[in-house]
Amino acid sequence: MCGIVGYVGRSEAAPILLDGLRRLEYRGYDSAGVAIVDGDKVETRKCAGRIAALGKLMAEKPPSGTFGISHTRWATHGKPTDQNAHPHFDASGKLALVHNGVIENYQALKDQLMRDGDRKFSSETDTEVLAHLIGKLYDDSIAEATAQDSNGNATNAPPLNQRGLLVDAVRAALRQVIGTYGIALVHSDVPDFLVGARRGSPLVLGVGKEENFLASDVSAIVAYTRDAVYLNDFDVVAVERDKFEISSVAGEAGSYQLSKVEFSDADIKKGDYPHYMLKEIFEQPGSVRDAMRGRLSSEECTAKLGGLNMSPAQLRDVGRVVLTGCGTALHAAMVGEYLIEALAQIPTEVEFASEFRHRNTPMTRDTLVFAISQSGETADTLGALRESRRKGYRTLGICNNVASTIARESDGGVYMHAGPEIGVAATKSFTAQVTIMTAIGLLLGRMRHLSTSEGTRIIDALNALPTQIEEVLKLSDEIKAIAKKYANAPGMLFFGRQFHFPIALEAALKMKEITYLFAEGHPSAELKHGIIALVRPELPSVFIAPDDAVFSKNLNNIEQVRARKGPVIAVTSGAGADRLAKIADDIITIPTAPDYVSPILTVIPLQLLAYHLAVELGRDVDKPRNLAKSVTVE
Ligand code: AGP
Ligand code: GLU
Repeated sequence: MCGIVGYVGRSEAAPILLDGLRRLEYRGYDSAGVAIVDGDKVETRKCAGRIAALGKLMAEKPPSGTFGISHTRWATHGKPTDQNAHPHFDASGKLALVHNGVIENYQALKDQLMRDGDRKFSSETDTEVLAHLIGKLYDDSIAEATAQDSNGNATNAPPLNQRGLLVDAVRAALRQVIGTYGIALVHSDVPDFLVGARRGSPLVLGVGKEENFLASDVSAIVAYTRDAVYLNDFDVVAVERDKFEISSVAGEAGSYQLSKVEFSDADIKKGDYPHYMLKEIFEQPGSVRDAMRGRLSSEECTAKLGGLNMSPAQLRDVGRVVLTGCGTALHAAMVGEYLIEALAQIPTEVEFASEFRHRNTPMTRDTLVFAISQSGETADTLGALRESRRKGYRTLGICNNVASTIARESDGGVYMHAGPEIGVAATKSFTAQVTIMTAIGLLLGRMRHLSTSEGTRIIDALNALPTQIEEVLKLSDEIKAIAKKYANAPGMLFFGRQFHFPIALEAALKMKEITYLFAEGHPSAELKHGIIALVRPELPSVFIAPDDAVFSKNLNNIEQVRARKGPVIAVTSGAGADRLAKIADDIITIPTAPDYVSPILTVIPLQLLAYHLAVELGRDVDKPRNLAKSVTVE
């Protein structure tokens, strides 16, 4: 959830750590802190609030030193206060540690530490217990190594291997931990040395020239190096300036693979856009094109998805599909359910990853499971993936982050290729996910009864999308005016049918996330089964009603809202605009597209509506209240 950056090298650590934190701020922004070792003492600065507040603190009294760690927090245990901000310290004050994740048995460990000695804890976090535990184990091992016999002779032979003992202490402590962690730590007695470890929370090692880095996400360090080692669960890494060593929590020697980071620093800059979210909305002609690039075969009228690692016979034998994910990814899965069932006639279920992982869903041998996740690190989705693989089902990942844990642990999958998504509210990853869902539906359909002409129609519709998205983006100013008009609305209702019901859910999620307004999405026809009680002149209803097979049904529902004086904003296309002209208060007209691909177009004006309304209300669009980009805790 949070962001971690560590540095050891020859440069001053402070600016590098602060710069890395700024790039990771989207991962959590409750509080921030650094610990840098200066000679024999650890200099720490930390405070509640944003990185900017930490930057100010550091500017007032700059910490000096060439190795250190830093953190931006998304609180799980304890309020976002100065005291609870990371780094946390052991009893000696020499060991500083930052942590991403949850130590589930922290209370038991804390009680044990208190029983063993008079230890003072200065925060309410679960993390602090880990600093105390590692510190105690390290101090005990140093005491043992330097113990003297009654004649004053050392009982253990020097030289003292402080680095080795610190890594041993980390391993011994982690063997007692139940929960998840990505950690980085320094000790002022152990110069030019960082230790990192992970279980459940991501951690990557950046390999530079006479300098090395630790980070919870490569975007923090890509300005300094593009050579990275993505750590696996239970890896412990000892990092020096010019070398590193990976072993396991159990103490076995580890292996690793050096990867090249695909994107550059320029890809994660905001450019001329006021917000990442707007930049990412406007990137969608390109990201949708990239999601299908090289994956559509006009000759065979189907999709080619080699990454699934499945033979034609295996694909033909799929009898059931389960699509799982959280939040926006779940909404993409819901569109996927409509698509796969319509195109391939394969029974498809959508499961909240958080539910799926803990329940005994009936599955048949021929079930194919997809875990959908932009970050590839979402704890619930990862849990669902692992549970599904444990039971022996073929489990595929649909991820944006190529080096992510979900991507690595899947039996195969499809990368979104949407490029880095920094805005906390997901936009371009959603349209990439739905594009891939369409390709999967097409592929599975063409393994069965879908005709070549149907296949060609879908491919043509997909290929037309980037230009059509550009047309939709031209409506931004028009949508801004609508947002201004409804700036005082107490909330918004969203309605859609068929492929557009999940779009109603996604539009409502965007609205909630960044405007903090109450918003709900429903199938249009559900209106009359209860929701209509909410309709009143102040509360706008947004209908996603393109000119499709269910347009006239949507029209009925719009009339029902109008009859009760509810304002209506309609997203429509083609002849729909004329038919709605006298009925809806505001109309957003997008290009006409076949049913299968039209959700990719209808969602974009609603991303823009949420965006412009949030800006109008003065919200922090890229870092909305209480949220974080990647949810690596349960
Ligand atoms: C989207 O706007 C949200 N911030 C959130 O629902 C997100 O989609 C969800 O947490 C899943 O993330 P993932 O795709 O990285 O797994
Ligand atoms: N559980 C820790 C805390 O609440 C770490 C949270 C995080 O990942 O930022 O401080």
